[in-house]
Amino acid sequence: MADLLIRGGTVVDATGSRVADVLVRGGRIVEVAEGIDVPTGKKARTLDAGGCLVAPGLVDLHAHLRQPGREEAETVETASRAAALGGYTAVVAMPNTDPAIDSAGVVREVLELGRDALCRVAVAGAITVGRNGQRLAPIGEMAALGVRLFTDDGAGVQDGRLMRRALEYASAFPGVRLAQHCEDASLATGGHMHEGEWSSRLGIPGIPAEAEDVMVMRDIALCRLTGAPVHFLHLSTAGSVELVRRAKAAGLAVTAEAAPHHLVLTDAECASYDPVFKVNPPLRSPADVDAVRAGCADGSIDAIATDHAPHELELKEQAFDEAPPGMLGLETALPLALEALGAVGMAPADVLALMSWRPAAIAGLDALGQGGPIAAGAVANLCVVDPDAAWVVDPLRLASLSRNTPYAGRKVIGRSRHTILAGEPVVVDAEAQR
Ligand code: DOR
Repeated sequence: MADLLIRGGTVVDATGSRVADVLVRGGRIVEVAEGIDVPTGKKARTLDAGGCLVAPGLVDLHAHLRQPGREEAETVETASRAAALGGYTAVVAMPNTDPAIDSAGVVREVLELGRDALCRVAVAGAITVGRNGQRLAPIGEMAALGVRLFTDDGAGVQDGRLMRRALEYASAFPGVRLAQHCEDASLATGGHMHEGEWSSRLGIPGIPAEAEDVMVMRDIALCRLTGAPVHFLHLSTAGSVELVRRAKAAGLAVTAEAAPHHLVLTDAECASYDPVFKVNPPLRSPADVDAVRAGCADGSIDAIATDHAPHELELKEQAFDEAPPGMLGLETALPLALEALGAVGMAPADVLALMSWRPAAIAGLDALGQGGPIAAGAVANLCVVDPDAAWVVDPLRLASLSRNTPYAGRKVIGRSRHTILAGEPVVVDAEAQR
């Protein structure tokens, strides 16, 4: 592989920011300095980074890749192409597949599918067998294959005693963290959107914010009881953000993520009755959106995670209460996060922290060369972000196999221009290279 020179950008990582070129050789960064010249006689490919931020590749803690079992909605290959175009060099595949990722065999299968993908594909294992919430899955055998996050995502573990056992059991495996889909089913079942003024007006049964708050409260208590770390998936309510803020202040080992759609869309979108706006947890009130943004700005929320959830057209064309929840996220997360968090005063570099090095650490992917730092010797997993690039979201031009983006026709600002995976430029000038 020829050397790669990323020229003229501002390098940002957890250590700060500086104007510098980055030279990559044999998959690793060999030099970070101003005005690097390629030695005469050496071949190098140059990527222009003028006006751009050169950052560690983005890391998504939460993507539904749909394989095995729902290949008509998405495959590991199509999702990883979407991810690379979105600036990601790693994604964590959620286990609500068919069969669920609840054993070493299925973990191996998904890792194998991701081996030559356009980004690293890590796997989250299920906490319970079949994600049924009844019996613990073999967390140890999955951890032995490198799985670090476990979740029944799509459903929360309802039984507090089982969740306690899972936390105690998981503590035996270094680096392992349980991630909760925070939804108390007894409060949420039967609801299809956020419970509030809009659900009353539209006649769509609601899911109260308290369905989320109650489970976050319980799991904070279980974190205190067991000492095991807990990660809260896709927080969407002002109440749950405040609970996490207080748990962190009390020194508990909790982390949390938020999805881009909970930063930019509200329940008012459901007035269209278009199921493209149906998602779980649901789009909430403007006050909740403000609270989630504030949680990102003050560190209560550690990561932006896409909850990329592709669904076939036929399913999303059903009536609102019949359609499955979920929306695409990988290709649009970066500009939406920059927009929403820029509005509360976050600098692009701080937004990149939430999308790269902080999630990398939560998933243990930092030890595998994700999330930086951008320094000599590190694996070259990078994205080159043009924070000023304006573009319009066109569902037909997305790499995902599905089309369920709620942002069709929306003008967004900010784009990953180049994505480099272990030294290979897999996206150049916003075009996938293979
Ligand atoms: O909206 C959602 N879609 N929320 C989830 O928790 C699951 C996901 C899916 O798998 O479609």
